[in-house]
Amino acid sequence: MDFEIFELERIQSLYENTVKYNLTESGIHPFTLREFLTEEETETLLNIRMGYGQTDGAPELREMICNHYKGAEIDNILVTNGSAEANFTFAGSTINPGDEVVIMLPNYMQIHGIANFLGANVKPFYLKEELNWAPDLDDLKKLVNDKTKMICLCNPNNPTGAVLSEEMMKEIVQIADHVRAILHVDEIYRGAELEGDETPTFYDLYDRAIVTMSLSKSYSLPGLRMGWLVGPKDIIARGWAFHDYTSISTNMLGQYVATLVMEPERRKQVLSRGRGMLKSNLVKFQSWIDSHSDLFHFIPPKAGGIVFMRYNMDINSTELCTRLRKEKSVFIIAGDSFGMDRYLRMGIGGEQKELLEGMELIDETLREVS
Ligand SMILES: Cc1ncc(COP(=O)(O)O)c(C=O)c1O
Repeated sequence: MDFEIFELERIQSLYENTVKYNLTESGIHPFTLREFLTEEETETLLNIRMGYGQTDGAPELREMICNHYKGAEIDNILVTNGSAEANFTFAGSTINPGDEVVIMLPNYMQIHGIANFLGANVKPFYLKEELNWAPDLDDLKKLVNDKTKMICLCNPNNPTGAVLSEEMMKEIVQIADHVRAILHVDEIYRGAELEGDETPTFYDLYDRAIVTMSLSKSYSLPGLRMGWLVGPKDIIARGWAFHDYTSISTNMLGQYVATLVMEPERRKQVLSRGRGMLKSNLVKFQSWIDSHSDLFHFIPPKAGGIVFMRYNMDINSTELCTRLRKEKSVFIIAGDSFGMDRYLRMGIGGEQKELLEGMELIDETLREVS
């Protein structure tokens, strides 16, 4: 199998643990289990027998997840090792060579990479900066036809932090439904909104929607490696069969904690901790970027722990980020990782002190470069 390098993940894997200021993370500063579990729950956790468990996910966990999706039953849910495995399972079990796959860009490039190496005919449509990172749905309409097997979105979006309006969501569903295309949506940043209500899930809007989710971003628990797919039962059943070839099952401890996190009241608490941190950090970031309005064009994110901005300095984005990493031990993501030179992506979901110190060091480099 020949596959293209997953630039974004590769570069993070190489350096995120070697720098002093890792500002590449798109989620929220993780919490410890001590901060989350009661004494009684800790005791229960310690007494869990370390078997394989139910390989498509513990029924109690899948029941708990169902509460958050209209009409979902446990056979609509497949529990996976993070969203990464949810995406891989969905794509690996559904995409065949020659299939037409329409993908929103910019995007976390996982589905794009897998679809390419599976031999799909990948057709991109774009979020446009001049539309505040919304798509022009006429572009999408022109790409979708009877041959379209699926449309893949990331909403809220990585890297722009943009969120589709409800009108646009409905219109996209209509476009997909017109040809009965599968609508795959990576919703990993749902629940990390910086303003307003939680973004609706596409699962509630369309019977051919399949959604990827995990506890890694808005729920601040990436180390737990818990994710899921929620979608039509036939696609989920096929995904489960594929999953027997990947990791067989997820871990028992993670499943127990995830069941607690998805309990409606606990879920609210976890999400509101994250949203509070994001909002406070965005205020700091906004004042920093305002002091550089000559250098950056910035559209504030609507959700997620990331900011994405265009710069007007005469330096390639990878070169700028490499310099920052080597000279200041500050790590941010180059637009090149999304095929978009002259843009930068920075994480704002970490500890505020780290963000503030990191921004000061970036200032030093900006003074040198510009
Ligand atoms: C859009 C998107 N999907 C999936 C993933 C993978 O997440 P997980 O840690 O749940 O595997 C990421 C990680 O950054 C992401 O941004």
